[in-house]
Amino acid sequence: MSRSSRRRSTADLVVVANRLPVDRVVRADGTTEWRRSPGGLVSALVPVMQQNRGAWIGWPGDTGDTIEPFEDDGITLVPISVTPREYEEFYEGFSNATLWPLYHDVVAKPEFHREWWDAYERVNRRFAEAAAAAAARDAMVWVQDYQLQLVPTMLRELRPDLRIGFFLHIPFPPAELFQQLPWRRQILEGLLGADLVGFQLPGAAQNFVRLVRQRVGHKTHRDTVYLPDGRTVTAKAFPISIDFAGFEELARSPSVQARAAQIRNDLGNPRKIFLGIDRLDYTKGIYVRLRAFSELVTDGNFTVEDAVFVQVATPSRERVDQYRILRDDIDRLVGRINGDLGRIGRPAISYLHSSFPRQEMAALYTAADIMVITPFRDGMNLVAKEYVACRLENDGALVLSEFAGAAEELRQAYLVNPYDINGMKAHMLEAYHAEDRDLARRMKAMRKTVADNDVAHWATAFLDDLSATRPNHEKRLRQARRT
Ligand code: G6P
Repeated sequence: MSRSSRRRSTADLVVVANRLPVDRVVRADGTTEWRRSPGGLVSALVPVMQQNRGAWIGWPGDTGDTIEPFEDDGITLVPISVTPREYEEFYEGFSNATLWPLYHDVVAKPEFHREWWDAYERVNRRFAEAAAAAAARDAMVWVQDYQLQLVPTMLRELRPDLRIGFFLHIPFPPAELFQQLPWRRQILEGLLGADLVGFQLPGAAQNFVRLVRQRVGHKTHRDTVYLPDGRTVTAKAFPISIDFAGFEELARSPSVQARAAQIRNDLGNPRKIFLGIDRLDYTKGIYVRLRAFSELVTDGNFTVEDAVFVQVATPSRERVDQYRILRDDIDRLVGRINGDLGRIGRPAISYLHSSFPRQEMAALYTAADIMVITPFRDGMNLVAKEYVACRLENDGALVLSEFAGAAEELRQAYLVNPYDINGMKAHMLEAYHAEDRDLARRMKAMRKTVADNDVAHWATAFLDDLSATRPNHEKRLRQARRT
């Protein structure tokens, strides 16, 4: 064992995710530094990892040079390099043009290419090998998301001593759609290397268990899969959440309050501000919600002096065809709506194609009266929970698609079907006219739900269940070593 691998084989908790929890920032003088990315997953896992000699294995976000593992704030970060070709075939191709649309109800047509699959296997193996090198004996390894579904089994083959968990952040499709995938069996077998497979919703866990029974032929009972070698795999829902207290604190800060007031002012102090914040993704239903809003104006329900729509669309996966097409479609629609309905200094839609830091997001949530979230399919949708966390006064309305995972918890939202534009318009209008008392009743209940189920709760629930898996783990390992 080389000195560096001996040094690295010490982590008791290893997270394996497509992205590292840091971004490489190039300073003005050309030198680079790593900055912690602000996501909820990162803030939930960092404290646990600091206490458990943690390592995080992930891709640093570019296709540059090989970067050696380094320490950041008590965590070992292990960068995995990906070549430009693998970036195209593994990340843009198989992950985001095959699996992403397939797992989101085939909202766009998935593309199946054999060379993309080869790259997916190759890159998954690289992640699995790095995890095998980083994990201490009997450590826990937690693999994240659809980009890495083969890692659990690849890792188990290398390191049978580990407890391996997997969590899928996006939906898991019904058998009727999943079976289109030419590599369906390999993906299911890849996931079965884990002891615990977590999903956002119980329905997704059921889809998985049913597929394993039908396609792989293993015995199953409720949430358990029985493998021929005596091992069991549990499939269960763990709905992910946000750092509720962190968002609340941000929203309470004087700078965010002042910025929210300035945003309202800059928008011309309309009676109501509608807000949408999404990655620019075809699953999010941005087009239909902007159309619904514009029709409400055209139909004479309110004027652009009464109400504006602020739409933030964060640039995403910009070289993938479907994303390029979507961007053009939205650009055209916003242009047409503003051309038709806007007045001087009063566009109907304020469209921002950029990403913002958490402070600005909290200010937007604070400024907005009606948050409109209308995906055709979404694993969870954390924006919905962030909005709720920022509504300190129990005011504000949440219009939420039934097809977002968050709708299973946020029952008091105005739930809409994004395929039904008239229905969506009716609910947006209901939210517009709602009485303060009704809004407060709804918001209070939703705030309690999110406060009681924050991301720390999510991470603890998953890791507790993972450490309780395989009660006969030691005995079985000893037996395996003897034979
Ligand atoms: C979703 C996925 C994540 C992914 C994120 C951003 O939330 O579940 O795994 O990281 O989108 O997408 P990107 O392709 O930029 O990583």
